[in-house]
Amino acid sequence: MSAVPNPIGKDLLGLEELTADQIRLILDTAEPFKEISERQIKKVPTLRGMTIVNLFFEASTRTRVSFEFAEKRLSADTVNVAASGSSVSKGETLVDTARNLESMKIDMVVIRHGASGAASFLARRIESNVINAGDGTHEHPTQGLLDLLTLRDRFGTLEGRRVCICGDVLHSRVARSNLWGLRKLGAQVAVCGPRSLMPNAIDDMGVQVFTRIEEAIEWAEALNILRLQLERMQAGYIPSLREYNRVFGVTRERIERAPRDIVIMHPGPMNRGVEIDSDVADGEHSVILDQVTNGVAIRMAVLYLLAGGRPELAESAKSGTGR
Ligand code: CP
Repeated sequence: MSAVPNPIGKDLLGLEELTADQIRLILDTAEPFKEISERQIKKVPTLRGMTIVNLFFEASTRTRVSFEFAEKRLSADTVNVAASGSSVSKGETLVDTARNLESMKIDMVVIRHGASGAASFLARRIESNVINAGDGTHEHPTQGLLDLLTLRDRFGTLEGRRVCICGDVLHSRVARSNLWGLRKLGAQVAVCGPRSLMPNAIDDMGVQVFTRIEEAIEWAEALNILRLQLERMQAGYIPSLREYNRVFGVTRERIERAPRDIVIMHPGPMNRGVEIDSDVADGEHSVILDQVTNGVAIRMAVLYLLAGGRPELAESAKSGTGR
């Protein structure tokens, strides 16, 4: 581990607090890590001896598995804790849970929690590095980073590119991390969806707002299509799922009318036939599974950097010789 200050700080809580250079550093560090997942033996000893706890208090497939693969491919020891089956279900607080885990000499905590601010709350109270794997409607920084990497793979640079975030922006931590990251890297950003699913402050966020999906498709070079977060809605945000698909659904007919090829992204899990139709999700412009693949490399890069790995040694780290 290096003694120099960590170039991305102690924790990864959101893209709001990172500079453009720090974001670029994470993306660049992820590049050499992509290749490890292509190998027959997908393992290097870079984080051998480190212990990482994955605390998932909300459902997850992609993020939880992706972090676990990233940790295992770097040879860290990992433990998974879910709310059900842990003492949280008996009323133990988040901080007590984390402090008890720290007493067993851990190095990092990856946390997903339903409360906005939970990761930052924890980071201020424990010594271990904390990585936010999604906190309420606040941020999902590693999703934002993997989206940026996927767009950079496609476009070469984000500077000046037109990216529209479509759908349930109001409830979306993915939207917030994307907004911060895209703008810091110089992209032009728009949002599209019903006004009832936009934050009140959207007009002050420096993004273009479309209320018709056809206009968004005409403008954009990439659409990042968000899931309708029905579990976070009480009632009354949209008339019905069918109506939402009719007005805002990204369908093949709409995409075919676009004046250019459009990159199709979705953070998952998808509501097929609601915000996105299957023939778009599985179509030739979709990079949805590339996003998932890039997620492992991004998480490896974040783990590596937080563990004190030096960015300039990431290339040799993948052969197990540097950190
Ligand atoms: N993109 C994302 O956060 O997916 P999961 O909820 O499956 O982790």
